Amino acid sequence: MQALEQRDYFTDLSVLRDPYQYFEDMRPGGPVQWDSNGVLIVTGFEEALEILRNSEDFSSVISTSGPVVPLPFEPEGDDINAQIEAHRDEMAPTQLLVTYDGSHHLAARSLLNSLFTPSRLRANEEFMEDYAGQLVRDAVAAGECELINQIATPYVTLVIADLLGVPEEDRETFRKVIDAGPPPGDMEAADQPSASYALTFMAEYFARYIQQRRDHPQQDVLTELAHAKFPDGSTPDLMEVVKGAMFLFAAGQDTSAKLLGNAMRFLVEDQALQQRLRENPSLIPAFLEEALRLEGSTKGTFRLARRRTTVGGTDVPAGTRIMVSFAAANRDANRWPNPISFEIGRSKIKEHLAFGRGAHVCIGAPLARVEVRVLLERFLEKTSRIELSEAVHGPVGNRKLNYEPSYIIRGLERLNIVLTPP
Ligand code: HEM
Repeated sequence: MQALEQRDYFTDLSVLRDPYQYFEDMRPGGPVQWDSNGVLIVTGFEEALEILRNSEDFSSVISTSGPVVPLPFEPEGDDINAQIEAHRDEMAPTQLLVTYDGSHHLAARSLLNSLFTPSRLRANEEFMEDYAGQLVRDAVAAGECELINQIATPYVTLVIADLLGVPEEDRETFRKVIDAGPPPGDMEAADQPSASYALTFMAEYFARYIQQRRDHPQQDVLTELAHAKFPDGSTPDLMEVVKGAMFLFAAGQDTSAKLLGNAMRFLVEDQALQQRLRENPSLIPAFLEEALRLEGSTKGTFRLARRRTTVGGTDVPAGTRIMVSFAAANRDANRWPNPISFEIGRSKIKEHLAFGRGAHVCIGAPLARVEVRVLLERFLEKTSRIELSEAVHGPVGNRKLNYEPSYIIRGLERLNIVLTPP
């Protein structure tokens, strides 16, 4: 293996596909370190929290682009707030919620609140139960399936479409368009137009839905969204609502589909664990939290230092680009005893950072937890055994499992499984 300083987190394909050794090799140097691109890499749990909770000193404007897109200005002085605002549109041209800061962020996020009420989530769960049941029944009847693309992606996409109240007749069209896109941060597919095409395509549909509901209110979720107000009582621009709704697909599709694959991999590689969960489905939520900690589907996020500050005792000049690594913080031995071992029932397990923390903490986390639990429940209930397909992935000891070469998403490109009915 190459020395640490010769490996680059953002361009080295082997690190993109499997980042854990890279972070472990970094740990002896401390929880906060500079990489060769001048990016501050945060691997410590406490230090990650320190940054995520402090949106006064750290901007989210580069949360998805990270350091891959250069800053369009030369940082000047110890406070670059004015420079960030002057260049915000160049740095975050898609203007998604996750890149907003301050009061604009709070206001835009509040527009989505009506979607995540307990009653809305209960209705959404009924849809999940039905749809998951149907997908798993078909897969078991076939005796095998490819989990990520054939099952998980359509499932999570239509769950979000249901959450948003997308009319039945348009749902299949949405699924097909979204299916075509590579995951965010995918370095091999960076030039492919399909991901942004999907967002543009959906934006057109949503603009139409929201305008129609503003003109002719109905008794549905889209009408609630169309009439959502900012906290100060003002009415948002149509496009602000559209972007918020659209972003749910961008934020909740790959993340959830890949988490399903990561969780299933634990189950197929450990038959005793699989059988334990089949016999005690009430353990599934605790299993999932541990899967999120060890193999969460979001490896990290990015922040830009707005002013000179310190993190974990390291001086951080204004303009510093920071990678907060959830993948590393969730394996920090200072927070998690025996960090690499899979242990169901760790105390305060929900403190893991798989869904981030602070002002931008994942708004879809409650939904993601339910949708993954429901699909795994169906799989365990309708089978007596789930195994990895050796024909596709090779035998134990010589597995071929490819992870996406993304600097943000941690997940398998495909996972073929063989299903034995009860
Ligand atoms: C396993 C599945 C998921 C994971 C691991 C995940 C992870 C995350 C993380 C880490 C963040 C914070 C990003 C940051 O701080 O820069 C985030 C934000 C967000 N997530 Fe999720 N997510 C998942 C599923 C979902 C789903 C299903 C939805 C929607 C239905 C969703 C909607 C959002 C939104 C809207 C934000 C932005 C919040 C904000 O900026 O205020 N996520 N997610």
